[in-house]
Amino acid sequence: TRSISLAVIPGDGIGPEVVAQGLKVLTAVLPQDVKLETREYDLGAKRWHATGETLPDAELESLRAYDAILLGAIGDPSVPSGTLERGMLLKLRFAFDHFVNLRPSRRYPNTASPLAGDPAIDFVVVREGTEGPYAGNGGTVRGGTPHEIATEVSVNTAHGVERVVRDAYERARARPRKKLTLVHKTNVMAYAGHLWKSAFDRVGQEYPEVSTDYLHVDAATIFMVTDPARFDVIVTDNLFGDILTDLAAAVSGGIGLAASGNINPTRDFPSMFEPVHGSAPDIAGRGKADPTATVLSTALLLRHLGHENEAVRIEEAVSADLAERGETARTTDETGDALAARAAG
Ligand code: IPM
Ligand code: MN
Repeated sequence: TRSISLAVIPGDGIGPEVVAQGLKVLTAVLPQDVKLETREYDLGAKRWHATGETLPDAELESLRAYDAILLGAIGDPSVPSGTLERGMLLKLRFAFDHFVNLRPSRRYPNTASPLAGDPAIDFVVVREGTEGPYAGNGGTVRGGTPHEIATEVSVNTAHGVERVVRDAYERARARPRKKLTLVHKTNVMAYAGHLWKSAFDRVGQEYPEVSTDYLHVDAATIFMVTDPARFDVIVTDNLFGDILTDLAAAVSGGIGLAASGNINPTRDFPSMFEPVHGSAPDIAGRGKADPTATVLSTALLLRHLGHENEAVRIEEAVSADLAERGETARTTDETGDALAARAAG
C-alpha cells in the first residue's frame, strides 16, 4: 500500500506518551510517498468515567475501515477490573477476529535477563486470540452461598484451532530453525488437548520441513527459564499464551521491550498492535516510560502491512540504540527521538 490509514487508541496512563513515540518513529521510517493518515480514538478510563462507555458499537464499526490500529494501554485503578479489558480490548480482538496474538521474544544488546549464563533467546509465541477460556462462556449458580459453583468454559473449535496452528507452521517454516512447539495440558484438559494435538499433527503433515515437539505448559515454564534457546515458534491457547508471554518478556529483557500484534492474517479486519505492558499509572505523565515496546509493535504493524524493509529498520534501530544507551536515564521523548533518528532512511 502507498498509504496507511491508522486508528490510534492512546488509552490510559503511559499509553499516550508511548504511542506518540511510536507514531514519531513510524513517520520517520516511512518513505516520502507512503502517506500515513491517523485518527485518534478517545477510549479508556477517562471516557468511561465521563460517559460510561467502553467501546460503542458505532465506533467499533468505524474502526473497521482502517488498515491497522495502534493501541497504547488501557486500564486504571479507578475503573472496576475487567470493565475495559472485556468492554474494549477483548471486544476488539473478538470483533476483528484477531486469532493470531503474535508475541516475539528476543535478547537485545545491553538488556538484563534475570537468567544465568546470558542465554540466546529468539522465539515467537503464536497465542490463539479469540477462543479458549477467554470466550466468556461460563456462569455461577448458587452465587454467594457456600455452595456456589462457578464455571469458565474453554471454547476450542476445530476451525479456530486449525487456523492458528497453520499460521504457526507458516511462521516456523519461514524461520531458519524451522521448529514448532505445541504447548498445552493434554494430560488433564483431554478434550481440548485432543483437538489441539490432532490439529497439530494433521496440519504438520503439510510441513515436513518443520520439526515439532510438544510440551505441557508447566514443563514449558521450566524450559523457558532453564533453556529458552530451545524454543523457535510456540503455538498455544489463549490463556496459556497469556501467561507464557509474560514469562517470556521477563526472561528476555523485561516487559518494556515486549511487542505484540493482534493479527487477522486474512486481512478481513484491521489488525491491532500494542505493547504487552500495561498503563503503568504510577509513572504516567512524567516522561519516564520507555516507549521501546510500542516502537517494536509498530515494526510488527509495518511487517503485517507488507513494509518489511521498514520493519527491519525499526528493529535494527532498537538494537543499535540499546547497544549504546548506557546508564543515563532518558525521557520518553528522548528515546523516541533517538529511535526515530536511527530508523529514518
Ligand atoms: C494481555 C493482557 C490481556 C489479556 C488482559 C488485559 C485482558 O494481559 O494482552 O496479555 O489477558 O490478554
Ligand atoms: Mn497478559
